[in-house]
Amino acid sequence: MGEPDQPSTARMIDFWLGGEHHFPVDVAAAAAFEQAYGPCAPVFRELRAFLGRAVRAIAAQGVDGFLVFGAGVPTMGNVHEAAAEATVLYTDVDPVTIRLGQRILAGSDRAGYGFGDATDIGTIDPSQLHRFVPGWGRRPVGVVFLGLAAFLDDDTLTRTLDEVYAAAAPGSLLAVDFDTEELASYPEALAMMGPAFRMRSPSSFGPLLGRWAPTADGIVPISRWRPDGPPAEVPDAFHGVLATRGAD
Ligand SMILES: C[S@@+](CC[C@H](N)C(=O)[O-])C[C@H]1O[C@@H](n2cnc3c(N)ncnc32)[C@H](O)[C@@H]1O
Repeated sequence: MGEPDQPSTARMIDFWLGGEHHFPVDVAAAAAFEQAYGPCAPVFRELRAFLGRAVRAIAAQGVDGFLVFGAGVPTMGNVHEAAAEATVLYTDVDPVTIRLGQRILAGSDRAGYGFGDATDIGTIDPSQLHRFVPGWGRRPVGVVFLGLAAFLDDDTLTRTLDEVYAAAAPGSLLAVDFDTEELASYPEALAMMGPAFRMRSPSSFGPLLGRWAPTADGIVPISRWRPDGPPAEVPDAFHGVLATRGAD
């Protein structure tokens, strides 16, 4: 695989998590962002810890198949590592990320990686979907939708989450996060995220969930979502929620 000449947020996150799947162009972009914002490693480590807690909570409900949207790099405590018994299909739209993910998971019979535009789930290869998320549409599954809402406008996000709701079987669970308005205090860093980047308040995010029903935990700062101990003291950059698909 040739070296990419553009950074990707997914590989920048891998860098901040201490992973091995990023390139000099990502490290340079990560350094520029930190210059404008401050240290990012603690924030993204906490976001990955939230993923782990949410995925383990879903698996504890007996769910053993996961579909991951906007998956990024499938290491450093990602879904198949957090749910060690489950099968997992990671999807993304970025061809470099997909190739990287396929290379990383080449030896796995439990996790695969393929193209999938979250805004059009028909773009997912059905054979991959049914291999790694057996019973999709008939059995409850875990849907992981992290690091993605910020890149979708309200209408697209609402329609997307509703399409996933309609396609997933009753009893399925959705883990989703969104970027808070905290980044607005760092205009230079915000500008680096591009004009389509969306920050949201918890009250504005709730209605976008549509028919997905938040668990009693609510929509909270990720560090306060069922923390394993005292919540980590990190900037309040992301809120998260676990939501269930009812029977309608
Ligand atoms: C900020 S990264 C998040 C990676 C990972 N989920 C995490 O939380 O660490 C966002 C990812 O979403 C992908 N992405 C952007 N738009 C997408 C879409 N419409 N459907 C699926 N993936 C998308 C990007 O290519 C990128 O890999």
